[in-house]
Amino acid sequence: MIEVANRLQTVEEYYFSKKLREVGLLIASGKPIISLGIGSPDLQPPKKVLDAISESFQDANAHKYQSYQGLPELRNAISKFYKAHFSVSLSPNTEILPLMGSKEGIMHISMAYLNEGDEVLIPNPGYPTYQSVTKLVGAKGVLYELDEANNWQPDFAALEKTDLTKVKIMWVNYPHMPTGAQPSKTVFEDLVAFGKRHNILIVNDNPYSFILNDEPKSILSVEGAKDVCLELNSLSKTFNMAGWRVGMVVGDSVHIKNILKVKSNMDSGMFYGIQKGAVEALKCSKMWFATLNNVYKERRDLVWKLADALNCTYDKNATGMFVWAKLPAYLKSEEFIDLVLKENHIFITPGTVFGTKGEGYIRFSLCASTENIEEAIARVE
Ligand SMILES: Cc1ncc(COP(=O)(O)O)c(C=O)c1O
Repeated sequence: MIEVANRLQTVEEYYFSKKLREVGLLIASGKPIISLGIGSPDLQPPKKVLDAISESFQDANAHKYQSYQGLPELRNAISKFYKAHFSVSLSPNTEILPLMGSKEGIMHISMAYLNEGDEVLIPNPGYPTYQSVTKLVGAKGVLYELDEANNWQPDFAALEKTDLTKVKIMWVNYPHMPTGAQPSKTVFEDLVAFGKRHNILIVNDNPYSFILNDEPKSILSVEGAKDVCLELNSLSKTFNMAGWRVGMVVGDSVHIKNILKVKSNMDSGMFYGIQKGAVEALKCSKMWFATLNNVYKERRDLVWKLADALNCTYDKNATGMFVWAKLPAYLKSEEFIDLVLKENHIFITPGTVFGTKGEGYIRFSLCASTENIEEAIARVE
């Protein structure tokens, strides 16, 4: 028997990896499942993106290993995108590293900065990967609780009362997944000050800025933020390119160099055609975002109706690709979603996937057609 590494004892298979197998079996057995689970955009990327990847196949360099830092053209496009949408200036040569999705950036940043025993502040509720990657690198996750009463913003007074001496990284994610909470007016300034005060690297994971959100913001727009902050971003949700695997980490050149040290030892560049497509996506005009959001708006109106039919409550000011809904007080998230899956053949994500603070909540994805959401409402009603 070959024993697995100790680190594997610290993590479980990713929730969706397991649950989607179960849902897949139900589908295979003929059950008409409607999935409102995972946030994988079902819409097409912009046409010019598809044209760019098709045209790229004939280029002489298309099939070679690509630069570890991505095409200069792609870094330029990211720099212009950050300037246009966030008013943040980034040097394409030193302050931008394209990634294969922002998810891998969580591992790369952790590998670059964490030693065994270092502590990491992780939002509860929050994206589960922050916790699992922290465990995989042998560091210790310290959960900080987000509360609906505080519109899911960090409680700095509570954090200041804790021992922060071993904390090296703090993960933040605004607009917040799963709740859809926007960053408050001052939270980015407060985070920068907090990071400086305690010498903590603040990483804002920012893939949802452009979904149902009129005010995209970057933590790097705060003066002095580059001293202690990095930002992850992604084309997955903004341009319906989740399967392409294109993201980025941006920030101070010293951090970017450190992350490149890890990344250049793990992959050998991103496929050329994908980079060419990404360049075209990043050049999209405001029209793209308006059209995309019209679709999500229509779907969200219907999901609100579905949530009403399930006796849930929700915040109409929330942003992003999900509706985060509160169950009636006596119900547990996982029991509830299992019941709806069994009785109505609708798959919804239980809030507990995102931590203990997600108990009593469920998360609906907007990555389903209006027809399917209407059918879900009819089944529940
Ligand atoms: C909060 C958050 N961060 C990061 C990711 C990863 O996105 P990607 O790796 O596709 O860029 C997701 C995906 O669902 C997410 O919800």
